[in-house]
Amino acid sequence: MDTTMSSQEKSCQVMRSADVVAQIRYLESRQATPLVHDPYAHLFISDEGDYLLQCALEKHPYFVKYLMVRERYFDLQLENVFLDQICQQLVILGSGNDMRALRLGFLKKHKIFEVDFSEQIQSKQSILKKVFGKVPQQVVYVEDDVTRPGLVGRLQQAGFDPGKRAVFLLQGLLYYLTPPGVDTLFEELMQIPEQGNVVLLDQITPDMGKEDLYPEDVQTYLLTQGYAISDSRLLGDLTQYYYHKKNDTRWWVISAVR
Ligand SMILES: C[S@@+](CC[C@H](N)C(=O)[O-])C[C@H]1O[C@@H](n2cnc3c(N)ncnc32)[C@H](O)[C@@H]1O
Repeated sequence: MDTTMSSQEKSCQVMRSADVVAQIRYLESRQATPLVHDPYAHLFISDEGDYLLQCALEKHPYFVKYLMVRERYFDLQLENVFLDQICQQLVILGSGNDMRALRLGFLKKHKIFEVDFSEQIQSKQSILKKVFGKVPQQVVYVEDDVTRPGLVGRLQQAGFDPGKRAVFLLQGLLYYLTPPGVDTLFEELMQIPEQGNVVLLDQITPDMGKEDLYPEDVQTYLLTQGYAISDSRLLGDLTQYYYHKKNDTRWWVISAVR
């Protein structure tokens, strides 16, 4: 990360990271047999997103494949919990331009909370309203910083039911948060009394070159927070499975339950 950037430039770059992921979903969706088909991704692509993607590809040539394998992994994890009716609500933290609410048919009857910074939520809503005349009915948009204390209370005010099992999806989020921010977020999630809530997250490892990576050992962190790991994979192994291309970079995708 460029330490010479101002905090405003940094937060702008963090939000533009949502466009990078949309750009990747758009490129994948144009393939003959895409791993993930997102018919809405094209709505969110931007020049800045493309520029940031090219920068990421210079450092990490496997970036596109990893992100699609990650998206597919979480789609399948969500399918498991929602089709088996294990969970009734989905909270997408750092939702960016995620369009699972419309993209995944099995989510259509469930309440979905999308949480992101105001600017990102408003930009997404404005694009959706312009194109469709409305936003998806089952989505509740929560303009918030996920590291701000009181998140669960504010989710409840928005209609989140702490007595119903939920999935919290943190796709592409953890490594943008500060260490105290991560701790505050997990302290918040700990306050939910209902057992059986699922957390889906990914975390890069020190070999990706990010300074101040926290938590470095995400599995151990989750265990100390009272979670049991249901499944954890390295994106390199999943890339081998889907694309027959091995990459040893360590980047975890994890499903955990508490
Ligand atoms: C890499 S994007 C991922 C977006 C989406 N989850 C996806 O995979 O397509 C990271 C997202 O997290 C959001 N984000 C980062 N820090 C956040 C925070 N403290 N509170 C709320 N949202 C945050 C950014 O605005 C951005 O939309």
